[in-house]
Amino acid sequence: MLRDILDCSQAGGIIIALGSGKGGVGKSFLATNIGIHIAGLSKKVILVDADLGNANLHTYLDLPLKGLTLSDFISGKVSNLAPAAIQTGVPHLSLIPGGKAPLGVANIVYKKKMALLKAIKRLSADFIILDLGTGVSFNVLDFFLIAHHKVVIARPEPASIENFFQFIKTALWRRLTTLIPDLSTRKRWEASFDQEGEWGVKRVAKIISEAGGMLNEGVRKKIEEELARFGVKLILNWTTTPDHRTLGYSIEKVCEGAMGVALQYLGYIDYDLQVEESTRLRKPLLLKYPDSGVAKAIRNVTNRLLVGYER
Ligand SMILES: Nc1ncnc2c1ncn2[C@@H]1O[C@H](COP(=O)(O)OP(=O)(O)OP(=O)(O)O)[C@@H](O)[C@H]1O
Ligand SMILES: [Mg+2]
Repeated sequence: MLRDILDCSQAGGIIIALGSGKGGVGKSFLATNIGIHIAGLSKKVILVDADLGNANLHTYLDLPLKGLTLSDFISGKVSNLAPAAIQTGVPHLSLIPGGKAPLGVANIVYKKKMALLKAIKRLSADFIILDLGTGVSFNVLDFFLIAHHKVVIARPEPASIENFFQFIKTALWRRLTTLIPDLSTRKRWEASFDQEGEWGVKRVAKIISEAGGMLNEGVRKKIEEELARFGVKLILNWTTTPDHRTLGYSIEKVCEGAMGVALQYLGYIDYDLQVEESTRLRKPLLLKYPDSGVAKAIRNVTNRLLVGYER
């Protein structure tokens, strides 16, 4: 059942997912470099290119696509993901590439998605890093929700922040809704997640109280427990001013105050031409410019992510 698969307390390795409401914010760039940093701490890391239909982590790592890929799992060619993991040349770091996308792969059917989520949770590594597609479709959110560390990347601009809140709200709604077994109750509960307030969010506690008698005591308790457990982390990428760099603290407050959702601001990564250059050269920034300000910032946010990483 989806409810059980999304229960992230059950996985083996620590899963880190990088998602965003808006595209092009730096998910793939950060997934690659965060992976390299953690692997450098002698932890076994598997990067999974879960951007179904738009996979490009192999390009960030300058690796050819010649073996098995995630697409082969989706198409049924293989029934296990582990053989698709390729060495990246960085000690302790391997990659499961997304592969050349068969047409329509982003619309993966429910059963396949469940199998893929289970296979990811079965991977044997200290850390599994999921680079996700953009947006709030269920085929993105369900990968986000299996992670122990649910990291959202946003740029410090209004549209990106707006999409950030939409992403969190939809992810939370998706997770909490799986806890309601009865279909008609689910429908009414979904309706009460309607927009409200400056960022289109409202306190989940208020939604629960509005739902009132429609939720039985057991379900209501599970929802409250899940809400208390549900934590999201934020990295602001592409910052250029001091105001940008502190914006994350205001977002933390809005998340807590307006939604009742715990958010941890992990820090910022400045805009830097060296990032663009390293991307163009297909040489990850942490390897190309290990002493740069951006490399230090990536190490800082990753170290903050790893504090208490045993979950
Ligand atoms: N801090 C930065 N400074 C300069 N350029 C950056 C920075 N972060 C990312 N970029 C550049 O922005 C582009 C998009 O980055 P990336 O591919 O990681 O985004 P994405 O969120 O994965 O996009 P998509 O939604 O398409 O998957 C890349 O060319 C990357 O080099
Ligand atoms: Mg990407």
